Amino acid sequence: MTPTLRTPLTELVGIDHPVVQTGMGWVAGPSLVSATSNAGGLGILASATMTYAELEAAIAKTKAQTAKPFGVNIRADATDAGERIDLLIREKVAVASFALAPKKDLIAKLKDAGVVVVPSIGAAKHAVKVASWGADAVIVQGGEGGGHTGPVATTLLLPSVLDAVDIPVVAAGGFFDGRGLAAALSYGAAGVAMGTRFLLTRESTVPDAVKQEYLARHLQDTVVSLKVDGMPHRVLNTELVDRLEHSGRWRGLGAAIANAARFKNMTGMKWSTIVRDGLTMRKQKDLTWSQVVMAANTPMLLRAGLVEGNTKAGVLAAGQVTGIIDDVPSCAELIDRIVTDAVARIDALAALRGSANTAP
Ligand SMILES: Cc1cc2nc3c(=O)[nH]c(=O)nc-3n(C[C@H](O)[C@H](O)[C@H](O)COP(=O)(O)O)c2cc1C
Repeated sequence: MTPTLRTPLTELVGIDHPVVQTGMGWVAGPSLVSATSNAGGLGILASATMTYAELEAAIAKTKAQTAKPFGVNIRADATDAGERIDLLIREKVAVASFALAPKKDLIAKLKDAGVVVVPSIGAAKHAVKVASWGADAVIVQGGEGGGHTGPVATTLLLPSVLDAVDIPVVAAGGFFDGRGLAAALSYGAAGVAMGTRFLLTRESTVPDAVKQEYLARHLQDTVVSLKVDGMPHRVLNTELVDRLEHSGRWRGLGAAIANAARFKNMTGMKWSTIVRDGLTMRKQKDLTWSQVVMAANTPMLLRAGLVEGNTKAGVLAAGQVTGIIDDVPSCAELIDRIVTDAVARIDALAALRGSANTAP
Protein backbone atom coordinates (compact mmCIF):
# COMPACT_ATOMS: atom_id res chain seq x y z
CA MET A 1 0.00 0.00 0.00
CA THR A 2 1.22 3.49 -0.87
CA PRO A 3 2.26 5.44 2.25
CA THR A 4 0.66 8.84 2.72
CA LEU A 5 2.07 12.32 3.01
CA ARG A 6 -0.32 14.88 4.47
CA THR A 7 0.29 18.41 3.20
CA PRO A 8 -1.77 21.62 2.97
CA LEU A 9 -2.60 20.56 -0.63
CA THR A 10 -3.98 17.13 0.29
CA GLU A 11 -6.05 18.77 3.04
CA LEU A 12 -7.29 21.62 0.85
CA VAL A 13 -8.49 19.42 -2.01
CA GLY A 14 -9.24 16.18 -0.17
CA ILE A 15 -6.79 13.95 -2.08
CA ASP A 16 -4.53 11.15 -0.85
CA HIS A 17 -1.22 12.22 -2.39
CA PRO A 18 0.39 15.65 -3.01
CA VAL A 19 0.78 14.96 -6.73
CA VAL A 20 -0.99 16.98 -9.43
CA GLN A 21 -1.34 16.13 -13.13
CA THR A 22 -1.48 19.49 -14.87
CA GLY A 23 -3.90 20.64 -17.58
CA MET A 24 -2.14 19.95 -20.88
CA GLY A 25 -3.93 20.94 -24.08
CA TRP A 26 -4.91 17.90 -26.23
CA VAL A 27 -3.44 15.56 -23.58
CA ALA A 28 -5.27 15.97 -20.28
CA GLY A 29 -8.65 14.44 -21.15
CA PRO A 30 -11.01 12.21 -19.13
CA SER A 31 -8.82 9.09 -19.43
CA LEU A 32 -5.68 10.67 -17.90
CA VAL A 33 -7.56 12.82 -15.40
CA SER A 34 -9.73 10.03 -14.00
CA ALA A 35 -6.73 7.65 -13.79
CA THR A 36 -4.74 10.25 -11.82
CA SER A 37 -7.60 11.07 -9.48
CA ASN A 38 -8.45 7.39 -8.96
CA ALA A 39 -4.80 6.84 -8.00
CA GLY A 40 -5.16 9.47 -5.24
CA GLY A 41 -3.56 12.45 -7.05
CA LEU A 42 -5.31 15.47 -8.54
CA GLY A 43 -6.07 15.21 -12.26
CA ILE A 44 -6.79 18.43 -14.14
CA LEU A 45 -8.70 18.56 -17.44
CA ALA A 46 -7.24 20.94 -20.04
CA SER A 47 -10.03 23.03 -21.50
CA ALA A 48 -8.15 25.61 -23.58
CA THR A 49 -8.24 23.26 -26.56
CA MET A 50 -11.90 22.24 -26.01
CA THR A 51 -15.06 23.97 -27.14
CA TYR A 52 -17.62 24.63 -24.43
CA ALA A 53 -19.62 21.57 -25.55
CA GLU A 54 -16.48 19.41 -25.53
CA LEU A 55 -15.67 20.58 -22.01
CA GLU A 56 -19.22 19.75 -20.89
CA ALA A 57 -18.84 16.24 -22.33
CA ALA A 58 -15.34 15.81 -20.86
CA ILE A 59 -16.55 16.74 -17.36
CA ALA A 60 -19.44 14.28 -17.65
CA LYS A 61 -17.11 11.51 -18.85
CA THR A 62 -14.57 12.17 -16.09
CA LYS A 63 -17.32 12.10 -13.46
CA ALA A 64 -18.50 8.76 -14.85
CA GLN A 65 -14.97 7.37 -14.42
CA THR A 66 -14.07 8.74 -10.98
CA ALA A 67 -15.83 9.83 -7.82
CA LYS A 68 -12.62 11.49 -6.59
CA PRO A 69 -11.87 15.24 -6.80
CA PHE A 70 -10.55 16.56 -10.12
CA GLY A 71 -9.96 19.99 -11.65
CA VAL A 72 -10.43 21.93 -14.88
CA ASN A 73 -7.83 24.28 -16.37
CA ILE A 74 -9.32 27.40 -17.96
CA ARG A 75 -7.77 30.24 -19.93
CA ALA A 76 -8.77 33.27 -17.90
CA ASP A 77 -8.76 35.33 -21.12
CA ALA A 78 -11.11 32.99 -23.03
CA THR A 79 -14.13 34.86 -24.36
CA ASP A 80 -16.46 32.37 -22.67
CA ALA A 81 -14.46 32.07 -19.38
CA GLY A 82 -17.55 33.24 -17.44
CA GLU A 83 -19.74 30.47 -18.89
CA ARG A 84 -17.04 27.88 -18.26
CA ILE A 85 -16.84 28.98 -14.64
CA ASP A 86 -20.62 28.67 -14.29
CA LEU A 87 -20.32 25.15 -15.71
CA LEU A 88 -17.65 24.21 -13.12
CA ILE A 89 -19.86 25.52 -10.34
CA ARG A 90 -22.96 23.71 -11.68
CA GLU A 91 -21.04 20.45 -12.05
CA LYS A 92 -19.42 20.82 -8.62
CA VAL A 93 -15.91 20.46 -10.05
CA ALA A 94 -13.48 20.48 -7.09
CA VAL A 95 -10.68 22.68 -8.47
CA ALA A 96 -10.44 25.55 -10.97
CA SER A 97 -6.93 25.92 -12.40
CA PHE A 98 -5.94 28.90 -14.53
CA ALA A 99 -3.21 29.36 -17.12
CA LEU A 100 -3.31 33.15 -16.73
CA ALA A 101 -4.31 35.03 -13.60
CA PRO A 102 -8.11 35.12 -13.28
CA LYS A 103 -9.93 38.34 -12.39
CA LYS A 104 -10.71 39.04 -8.74
CA ASP A 105 -14.49 38.70 -9.22
CA LEU A 106 -14.11 35.31 -10.95
CA ILE A 107 -12.06 34.02 -8.00
CA ALA A 108 -14.69 35.29 -5.56
CA LYS A 109 -17.52 33.65 -7.51
CA LEU A 110 -15.77 30.27 -7.58
CA LYS A 111 -14.85 30.43 -3.90
CA ASP A 112 -18.39 31.36 -2.89
CA ALA A 113 -19.52 28.20 -4.67
CA GLY A 114 -16.92 26.08 -2.83
CA VAL A 115 -14.57 25.56 -5.81
CA VAL A 116 -10.87 25.59 -4.86
CA VAL A 117 -9.01 28.17 -7.01
CA VAL A 118 -5.43 27.35 -8.04
CA PRO A 119 -3.88 29.66 -10.68
CA SER A 120 -0.56 28.76 -12.32
CA ILE A 121 2.01 31.54 -12.03
CA GLY A 122 5.56 32.15 -13.18
CA ALA A 123 6.71 34.98 -10.88
CA ALA A 124 6.42 35.85 -7.17
CA LYS A 125 4.64 39.15 -7.88
CA HIS A 126 1.84 37.29 -9.68
CA ALA A 127 1.53 34.89 -6.75
CA VAL A 128 1.19 37.85 -4.38
CA LYS A 129 -1.50 39.36 -6.61
CA VAL A 130 -3.67 36.23 -6.90
CA ALA A 131 -3.20 35.45 -3.20
CA SER A 132 -4.47 38.94 -2.32
CA TRP A 133 -7.47 38.26 -4.55
CA GLY A 134 -8.29 35.12 -2.58
CA ALA A 135 -6.68 32.25 -4.56
CA ASP A 136 -6.52 29.15 -2.36
CA ALA A 137 -3.14 27.93 -3.66
CA VAL A 138 -0.80 28.48 -6.62
CA ILE A 139 1.10 26.23 -8.98
CA VAL A 140 4.51 27.76 -9.71
CA GLN A 141 6.14 26.61 -12.94
CA GLY A 142 9.89 26.98 -13.37
CA GLY A 143 11.63 27.43 -16.71
CA GLU A 144 12.43 23.75 -17.24
CA GLY A 145 8.70 23.04 -17.55
CA GLY A 146 6.96 22.12 -20.80
CA GLY A 147 4.65 24.39 -22.80
CA HIS A 148 4.56 28.13 -22.13
CA THR A 149 7.23 28.83 -19.58
CA GLY A 150 9.38 31.53 -17.97
CA PRO A 151 13.14 32.04 -17.75
CA VAL A 152 13.75 31.23 -14.04
CA ALA A 153 14.50 27.65 -12.93
CA THR A 154 12.25 25.93 -10.39
CA THR A 155 15.10 25.80 -7.83
CA LEU A 156 15.02 29.63 -7.56
CA LEU A 157 11.47 30.50 -8.55
CA LEU A 158 9.98 28.16 -5.95
CA PRO A 159 11.71 29.66 -2.88
CA SER A 160 11.02 33.18 -4.15
CA VAL A 161 7.29 32.40 -4.31
CA LEU A 162 7.32 30.55 -0.97
CA ASP A 163 8.89 33.62 0.65
CA ALA A 164 6.26 35.90 -0.88
CA VAL A 165 2.94 34.21 -0.03
CA ASP A 166 1.28 32.30 2.82
CA ILE A 167 -1.02 30.10 0.75
CA PRO A 168 -0.01 26.54 -0.32
CA VAL A 169 2.45 26.52 -3.22
CA VAL A 170 2.67 23.55 -5.58
CA ALA A 171 5.98 23.18 -7.44
CA ALA A 172 6.04 22.45 -11.18
CA GLY A 173 8.68 22.24 -13.87
CA GLY A 174 11.11 19.33 -14.04
CA PHE A 175 9.50 16.89 -11.57
CA PHE A 176 9.29 13.18 -12.29
CA ASP A 177 10.23 11.11 -9.24
CA GLY A 178 10.28 10.74 -5.46
CA ARG A 179 13.48 12.74 -5.10
CA GLY A 180 11.74 15.70 -6.68
CA LEU A 181 8.70 15.39 -4.42
CA ALA A 182 10.87 15.10 -1.28
CA ALA A 183 12.93 18.11 -2.41
CA ALA A 184 9.83 20.21 -3.16
CA LEU A 185 8.38 19.40 0.27
CA SER A 186 11.74 20.31 1.85
CA TYR A 187 11.59 23.71 0.17
CA GLY A 188 8.21 24.16 1.84
CA ALA A 189 5.99 23.38 -1.16
CA ALA A 190 2.70 21.57 -0.61
CA GLY A 191 3.23 19.11 -3.47
CA VAL A 192 4.39 18.77 -7.05
CA ALA A 193 2.56 19.23 -10.35
CA MET A 194 3.80 17.39 -13.44
CA GLY A 195 2.96 17.68 -17.12
CA THR A 196 5.46 15.80 -19.27
CA ARG A 197 5.72 12.89 -16.79
CA PHE A 198 1.95 12.34 -16.99
CA LEU A 199 1.95 12.71 -20.79
CA LEU A 200 4.19 9.62 -20.72
CA THR A 201 1.81 7.31 -18.86
CA ARG A 202 -0.34 4.46 -20.10
CA GLU A 203 -3.62 6.34 -19.64
CA SER A 204 -2.37 9.35 -21.61
CA THR A 205 -4.10 9.13 -25.00
CA VAL A 206 -1.07 10.53 -26.86
CA PRO A 207 -0.36 8.03 -29.67
CA ASP A 208 2.42 5.56 -28.98
CA ALA A 209 4.66 6.72 -31.84
CA VAL A 210 4.65 10.22 -30.36
CA LYS A 211 5.36 8.92 -26.84
CA GLN A 212 8.38 7.11 -28.35
CA GLU A 213 9.51 10.42 -29.87
CA TYR A 214 9.55 11.97 -26.36
CA LEU A 215 11.24 8.93 -24.77
CA ALA A 216 14.06 9.02 -27.33
CA ARG A 217 15.01 12.60 -26.39
CA HIS A 218 17.96 13.63 -24.20
CA LEU A 219 18.14 16.47 -21.66
CA GLN A 220 19.33 19.00 -24.26
CA ASP A 221 16.64 18.12 -26.80
CA THR A 222 14.04 20.75 -25.92
CA VAL A 223 14.18 24.43 -26.70
CA VAL A 224 12.29 27.53 -25.56
CA SER A 225 11.23 29.18 -28.78
CA LEU A 226 9.50 32.51 -29.29
CA LYS A 227 8.96 31.67 -32.91
CA VAL A 228 6.39 28.94 -32.39
CA ASP A 229 3.55 31.19 -31.25
CA GLY A 230 5.14 34.43 -30.10
CA MET A 231 5.39 33.43 -26.43
CA PRO A 232 8.25 31.52 -24.78
CA HIS A 233 7.18 27.93 -25.49
CA ARG A 234 9.26 24.90 -24.47
CA VAL A 235 8.98 22.28 -27.19
CA LEU A 236 10.94 19.35 -28.59
CA ASN A 237 13.69 20.60 -30.86
CA THR A 238 12.32 19.33 -34.16
CA GLU A 239 13.32 20.14 -37.73
CA LEU A 240 10.46 22.66 -37.99
CA VAL A 241 11.42 24.44 -34.75
CA ASP A 242 15.06 24.51 -35.83
CA ARG A 243 14.08 26.05 -39.17
CA LEU A 244 11.91 28.69 -37.45
CA GLU A 245 14.67 29.50 -34.96
CA HIS A 246 17.23 30.08 -37.70
CA SER A 247 15.15 32.06 -40.15
CA GLY A 248 15.26 35.86 -40.37
CA ARG A 249 12.18 38.08 -40.26
CA TRP A 250 11.20 37.71 -43.93
CA ARG A 251 12.49 34.21 -44.48
CA GLY A 252 10.55 33.40 -41.32
CA LEU A 253 7.36 34.69 -42.90
CA GLY A 254 8.00 32.70 -46.07
CA ALA A 255 8.69 29.55 -44.05
CA ALA A 256 5.61 30.15 -41.92
CA ILE A 257 3.34 30.56 -44.95
CA ALA A 258 4.86 27.47 -46.58
CA ASN A 259 4.28 25.59 -43.32
CA ALA A 260 0.77 26.96 -43.07
CA ALA A 261 0.02 25.62 -46.55
CA ARG A 262 1.56 22.23 -45.72
CA PHE A 263 -0.15 21.98 -42.36
CA LYS A 264 -3.49 23.27 -43.64
CA ASN A 265 -3.90 19.92 -45.35
CA MET A 266 -2.67 18.03 -42.30
CA THR A 267 -5.01 19.78 -39.87
CA GLY A 268 -8.01 20.59 -42.03
CA MET A 269 -7.84 24.24 -40.90
CA LYS A 270 -9.37 26.74 -43.36
CA TRP A 271 -7.37 29.77 -44.60
CA SER A 272 -10.21 32.00 -43.36
CA THR A 273 -9.81 30.59 -39.83
CA ILE A 274 -6.03 31.01 -39.93
CA VAL A 275 -6.37 34.64 -41.05
CA ARG A 276 -9.15 35.43 -38.54
CA ASP A 277 -7.25 33.90 -35.58
CA GLY A 278 -4.06 35.58 -36.78
CA LEU A 279 -5.66 39.02 -36.95
CA THR A 280 -7.06 38.64 -33.42
CA MET A 281 -3.63 37.59 -32.12
CA ARG A 282 -1.86 40.46 -33.91
CA LYS A 283 -4.26 42.87 -32.27
CA GLN A 284 -3.76 41.37 -28.79
CA LYS A 285 0.01 40.94 -28.92
CA ASP A 286 2.90 42.60 -30.64
CA LEU A 287 3.63 39.82 -33.12
CA THR A 288 5.32 39.87 -36.50
CA TRP A 289 3.28 38.43 -39.38
CA SER A 290 5.40 35.28 -39.42
CA GLN A 291 4.66 34.80 -35.72
CA VAL A 292 0.97 35.39 -36.41
CA VAL A 293 0.90 32.69 -39.09
CA MET A 294 2.74 30.24 -36.83
CA ALA A 295 0.66 31.16 -33.79
CA ALA A 296 -2.57 30.57 -35.69
CA ASN A 297 -1.27 27.15 -36.67
CA THR A 298 0.22 26.11 -33.32
CA PRO A 299 -2.87 24.61 -31.65
CA MET A 300 -3.58 22.54 -34.76
CA LEU A 301 0.06 21.47 -35.11
CA LEU A 302 0.03 20.34 -31.48
CA ARG A 303 -3.17 18.47 -32.21
CA ALA A 304 -1.70 16.76 -35.29
CA GLY A 305 1.10 15.39 -33.09
CA LEU A 306 -0.52 14.79 -29.72
CA VAL A 307 -3.89 13.52 -30.94
CA GLU A 308 -3.38 12.19 -34.45
CA GLY A 309 0.12 10.83 -33.93
CA ASN A 310 1.75 12.72 -36.77
CA THR A 311 5.39 12.75 -35.68
CA LYS A 312 6.25 15.12 -38.56
CA ALA A 313 3.93 17.92 -37.36
CA GLY A 314 6.92 19.51 -35.62
CA VAL A 315 5.36 21.24 -32.60
CA LEU A 316 5.39 19.06 -29.49
CA ALA A 317 5.33 20.86 -26.12
CA ALA A 318 7.72 19.17 -23.71
CA GLY A 319 9.59 19.84 -20.48
CA GLN A 320 13.34 19.26 -20.21
CA VAL A 321 12.43 16.33 -18.00
CA THR A 322 11.54 14.38 -21.15
CA GLY A 323 15.29 13.72 -21.41
CA ILE A 324 15.37 11.74 -18.19
CA ILE A 325 12.11 9.80 -18.52
CA ASP A 326 12.47 6.33 -20.01
CA ASP A 327 9.25 4.45 -19.32
CA VAL A 328 5.48 4.61 -19.64
CA PRO A 329 3.93 3.43 -16.35
CA SER A 330 0.25 3.56 -15.39
CA CYS A 331 -0.76 6.62 -13.35
CA ALA A 332 -1.27 4.39 -10.29
CA GLU A 333 2.22 2.87 -10.62
CA LEU A 334 3.73 6.31 -11.13
CA ILE A 335 2.09 7.93 -8.11
CA ASP A 336 2.80 4.90 -5.93
CA ARG A 337 6.51 4.89 -6.72
CA ILE A 338 6.90 8.67 -6.42
CA VAL A 339 5.24 8.82 -2.99
CA THR A 340 6.89 5.62 -1.71
CA ASP A 341 10.32 6.88 -2.75
CA ALA A 342 9.69 10.38 -1.36
CA VAL A 343 8.75 8.90 2.03
CA ALA A 344 11.91 6.73 2.04
CA ARG A 345 14.04 9.79 1.23
CA ILE A 346 12.40 11.88 3.94
CA ASP A 347 13.04 9.07 6.46
CA ALA A 348 16.66 8.78 5.29
CA LEU A 349 17.09 12.53 5.78
CA ALA A 350 15.62 12.36 9.28
CA ALA A 351 18.13 9.58 10.08
CA LEU A 352 20.98 11.98 9.22
CA ARG A 353 20.22 13.82 12.43
CA GLY A 354 22.35 12.47 15.22
CA SER A 355 23.90 13.64 18.42
CA ALA A 356 27.07 15.71 18.18
CA ASN A 357 30.23 13.76 17.49
CA THR A 358 31.90 13.45 20.87
CA ALA A 359 34.97 11.52 19.73
CA PRO A 360 38.15 13.11 21.15
C1 LIG B 1 2.05 18.86 -24.07
C2 LIG B 1 1.85 19.96 -23.06
C3 LIG B 1 0.73 20.77 -23.15
C4 LIG B 1 0.50 21.79 -22.21
N1 LIG B 1 -0.64 22.53 -22.29
C5 LIG B 1 -0.94 23.43 -21.30
C6 LIG B 1 -2.19 24.10 -21.28
O1 LIG B 1 -3.04 23.90 -22.16
N2 LIG B 1 -2.44 24.97 -20.24
C7 LIG B 1 -1.52 25.18 -19.23
O2 LIG B 1 -1.81 25.94 -18.28
N3 LIG B 1 -0.30 24.56 -19.24
C8 LIG B 1 -0.01 23.68 -20.24
N4 LIG B 1 1.20 23.01 -20.24
C9 LIG B 1 2.13 23.21 -19.09
C10 LIG B 1 1.82 22.15 -18.02
O3 LIG B 1 0.53 22.32 -17.51
C11 LIG B 1 2.81 22.13 -16.84
O4 LIG B 1 2.78 23.37 -16.16
C12 LIG B 1 4.23 21.78 -17.25
O5 LIG B 1 4.20 20.69 -18.14
C13 LIG B 1 5.08 21.44 -16.03
O6 LIG B 1 6.40 21.12 -16.39
P1 LIG B 1 6.93 19.61 -16.68
O7 LIG B 1 6.53 19.32 -18.07
O8 LIG B 1 8.39 19.71 -16.47
O9 LIG B 1 6.25 18.69 -15.68
C14 LIG B 1 1.45 22.01 -21.18
C15 LIG B 1 2.61 21.20 -21.11
C16 LIG B 1 2.81 20.18 -22.03
C17 LIG B 1 4.05 19.32 -21.89
